[in-house]
Amino acid sequence: MSTEDKKKGKNSEEMSRRRFFNLIGWGGLLASMGGSAVGTYKFMFPTVLYEPPTVFKIGKVTDFGMGVDERLKKERQIWVVRNERGLYVLVSICRHLGCTPNWFPDQQRFRCPCHGSIYDIYGNVRGGPAPRTLWRASVSTDPVDNQVIVNFLSRQDPDPESTANGLIVEEAPREVAPYFIKSA
Ligand code: FES
Repeated sequence: MSTEDKKKGKNSEEMSRRRFFNLIGWGGLLASMGGSAVGTYKFMFPTVLYEPPTVFKIGKVTDFGMGVDERLKKERQIWVVRNERGLYVLVSICRHLGCTPNWFPDQQRFRCPCHGSIYDIYGNVRGGPAPRTLWRASVSTDPVDNQVIVNFLSRQDPDPESTANGLIVEEAPREVAPYFIKSA
């Protein structure tokens, strides 16, 4: 191999090495630019978990018929119950392990599908493993528009009495503010 050929070979080796390092340099630069772009995007649009409000309005007392109203069960996890004395709100979370019971109007009972707890329309435990009665959420009336305001996190939870008919809480003392709106 002539000196000229050797020189050419060395030059092309040098060129490909330079190209290789160039590529690495550009790759690194692009990667870091991409990383900062993602960081900026995340800063501008942070991951936010939207929780449903815990205090909300559900309409006027007269918007609900007598008995159990299931319209807000899915959206708000509550049943609205109205009787001849007034209105209260039951939280549709089973006191055993937190499943959602179903209302059976023909039996006048809530029944939990997974472990079989049974509650009556007042939330008393009439069967199954539930250790407490259903919670009642606090309710009040907005003086301006007369709508019922529910505070989902403020709950009535009295100690039930163990009887032959289940875990029962006397009804009259439960029908008091802020867990009951008396009929006008
Ligand atoms: S969660 Fe309701 S009975 Fe178990």
